[in-house]
Amino acid sequence: MRIAICPGSFDPVTLGHMDIIARACKIFDKVIVAVSVNPEKHTSFSTEERKQMLTIATKSMGLENVEIDVVNGLLADYARSKGANAIVKGLRAMTDFEYEFQMALTNKQLNPELETMFLATSAQNMFLSSSMVKQVAGFGGDIKDFVPECIAQTIKERLSIGGNKNG
Ligand code: PNS
Repeated sequence: MRIAICPGSFDPVTLGHMDIIARACKIFDKVIVAVSVNPEKHTSFSTEERKQMLTIATKSMGLENVEIDVVNGLLADYARSKGANAIVKGLRAMTDFEYEFQMALTNKQLNPELETMFLATSAQNMFLSSSMVKQVAGFGGDIKDFVPECIAQTIKERLSIGGNKNG
């Protein structure tokens, strides 16, 4: 069985993430979406909230070979424990490249059996990021073109100015 891991902070999940997850589901027998810790980022949503939003979004897309999990440790170790063959990530532009390349090489060093594959982001998602979504929602803007419809209201309510932003 070919197993891929789609890791990320998903704070919150965007249509760009969903596009990559859906495409990975077509290539692999099973895809594990791993809500992981990026020590360099302060998150606005709790781990459970992020997992919940991903569960709702993947269900609404009818993705059947997908599982959502939370990873607190090293991704390379988690991949080994799950028998995963690859990490799949989206690449938006050259600005992503150095950071992603560094992570790919580190993960390869830690787990030589694990390949990192990059899918070129779809053109309409080139500019999309979780931080941009948070900023637009925080100022009361419309995020319907940026996040799955089924979770847009939850995100807006949590992030609108005056809402609870700390999890
Ligand atoms: O969405 P992000 O924040 O760009 O994703 C980065 C993430 C969470 C995938 C990365 O920080 C990660 O893999 N964290 C888990 C801890 C780990 O394995 N760190 C070493 C990776 S080189």
